[in-house]
Amino acid sequence: MIEIRVVGYHRRRLRPGAVTSMGSVMPLGVSSVERPGQLDPGGPAADDIAPLWWGLLAAGTVIALLVAVLLVLPMVRRRRRMPDASADHDDVPQQLANRWIIGLGVVMPGAILIAVLVFSVSTMRTVSRAAPAGSVVIDVVSYQFWWAASYPADDPDDDVIVANEIHIPVGEPVELRLTSADVIHSFWAPELQGKLDMLPDGTNTLVIEADEPGEYLGACAEFCGVQHALMRFVVIAEPPDEFAAWLFAQRSPASDATADAAQRGQELFAAEDCGACHTVRGAAEAGAATMPGPDLTHVASRRTLAAATIPNTPVELARWLRDPDAVKPGTTMPAPELTADEIDDLVAYLESLR
Ligand code: CUA
Repeated sequence: MIEIRVVGYHRRRLRPGAVTSMGSVMPLGVSSVERPGQLDPGGPAADDIAPLWWGLLAAGTVIALLVAVLLVLPMVRRRRRMPDASADHDDVPQQLANRWIIGLGVVMPGAILIAVLVFSVSTMRTVSRAAPAGSVVIDVVSYQFWWAASYPADDPDDDVIVANEIHIPVGEPVELRLTSADVIHSFWAPELQGKLDMLPDGTNTLVIEADEPGEYLGACAEFCGVQHALMRFVVIAEPPDEFAAWLFAQRSPASDATADAAQRGQELFAAEDCGACHTVRGAAEAGAATMPGPDLTHVASRRTLAAATIPNTPVELARWLRDPDAVKPGTTMPAPELTADEIDDLVAYLESLR
């Protein structure tokens, strides 16, 4: 069967418990893409960027048409004059030719470039304005090929860390401090903001704001390796009270599994040394992860897996655990050597981490 990986951006109204199917591998002809995002602004910064895009398109169209007319015109005129072509192009006075060259070759491009520069710089200034004091601050770290978003707390032990999912309060500017743990990536949620590079040796600041509650899909916009195209994330804008409730729930540590299967899964999690990369805060026997992997304290509360490329359902989670590399070639997640029953137990444990 021919499969295509659908790359697209769309906004959805937030439905409690809804599982998105965006970006999953879908049979040819089935697309979840509702509309491209860049020209569908969902926040103040994107509102400022869209007119620049349309302005450049309009200017480019007019210039392309003008060039086409100027190319075709002499051909038509020359053909009309073909019977007595002896005069050739010497009949254009040199002065007139100079005027055309200076006007269309120097003055017009200069004026257009200056206008575009002024338009671009003024847009850059408005989209890069700082967030007011007291705004929510989120540290976003990019990895090959996923994202960690952390919400710093007064006590570092209370820091909330989620993967590939950035919750923000709707209608408020939120400051993102962007950095990379390995190579250069670029953060881009087209409906909310322009793109900004994430560098391994520095922090860039980006302010995003969503006008309406909803899910805003984002992607890495800087080629960073084999899984660059499937390095996605989702920004979830919620009413401030829902955001606060989400943050409160995420701050609490995980409780130990109680059901039989989940208990067996928790033991497997320890035996397979999953904790070397994945932190489960508060779980018995789980030490601090020393290698980078998504924090799994509340993994079952998340909407997607594998950098927002597959929905977070028990079936997809089992598929991911059986062979991560088949889902995301190039992922650093190794395939645990487990039987089908053991995979089911591990899924039961991870599903208990709500
Ligand atoms: Cu990360 Cu491209």
